[in-house]
Amino acid sequence: MYKEIIEQPLTIHKAYFGRILDNKIAFETLSFSKADLKKFKNIIIVGCGTSWHAASFGALMLQEIAQIPTTFEIASEFRFKNLFITEETLVIAISQSGETLDTIAAVRAAKDKKGKVLGICNVQNSLLTREADSCLFLDAGPELSVCSTKAFTSQITVLTLFSLYMAELKNRAVDVEKILFELQKIPQKIKLIFKSIDHIKKIAKKYQKFEHFFFLGRHYMYTTAMEAALKLKEISYLNANAYPAGEMKHGPLALAGDHLATVGFCANEKTYDKTLSNLIEVKARGSLILALAPENAKGIQDIADDIIWLPKTIDELSVFPSTVAGQLLAYFIAKERKTDIDKPRNLAKSVTVE
Ligand code: G6P
Repeated sequence: MYKEIIEQPLTIHKAYFGRILDNKIAFETLSFSKADLKKFKNIIIVGCGTSWHAASFGALMLQEIAQIPTTFEIASEFRFKNLFITEETLVIAISQSGETLDTIAAVRAAKDKKGKVLGICNVQNSLLTREADSCLFLDAGPELSVCSTKAFTSQITVLTLFSLYMAELKNRAVDVEKILFELQKIPQKIKLIFKSIDHIKKIAKKYQKFEHFFFLGRHYMYTTAMEAALKLKEISYLNANAYPAGEMKHGPLALAGDHLATVGFCANEKTYDKTLSNLIEVKARGSLILALAPENAKGIQDIADDIIWLPKTIDELSVFPSTVAGQLLAYFIAKERKTDIDKPRNLAKSVTVE
């Protein structure tokens, strides 16, 4: 897992390399024509586990940047729901392995309703690549650790490119150049996080004694909160619950107390102030606060007990640095707790049964 975390500057680069030419996006393996893509009226993104978290990111991007009605669904629920799917629906199926049976079942259900399927996959010639109408590859190299890391950041890279591609096709007023420029700076920014590894190790030592965690974030940071909490659950066996921070007051706050640590994801400028107010609420109930915040952010020092500073980027891409820091936090907590990190109990790398 550690090797795969550290590979991410390279694997993110590989996911966009060759797909950005003169600030234009090109997908060599996309077999849908521009005319086909223009016809889609709605998009549904499906996946399981980490790939489902990537789906949540993709839905925000496609909705906000390309302004196409887009939702995301857990693949294992997909076929039981009577979702709105027609021949003008694009279903994007995300799977690192391309073999997850629930995701394949969702693909089949979508095709039964005449929806068109785009796979986003890491493994060539996998089942998904054969069942989807078209496929975009991550080119991240084999991911061996059960806990997915580099596949996630490659998935969100491809989803960023695809959202920008759709925005251009639909003539949306979006600064594509700016987002592409920022995307190409992400690998360098991830390398900067690696300089904080000693600091993250110290924080892991302090927080590993907690059995219960809240992972809080809003907007793009909710995706990160879900993904970082899943990493901690998978490899540390700790009870890490992710919530959109504004939802705390509707129930979860009853759990807060000094037995619980809160990890607050504050890298999304749009929701920064609101997230800080939510963190104050849990702090007032005795919870220790670890914040992941962009460098030079104001106000968080007065609230958080500990801070992991992140390189700043635009809101749309804030998931990259904060998720990598979340992966490292989970990894070092698991190391402290001496679990079998690459083969955590009860889990499989790819689940080919229902
Ligand atoms: C398993 C793995 C997870 C992974 C999920 C989906 O549960 O343990 O790490 O996110 O499957 O896998 P996929 O290959 O479809 O992305």
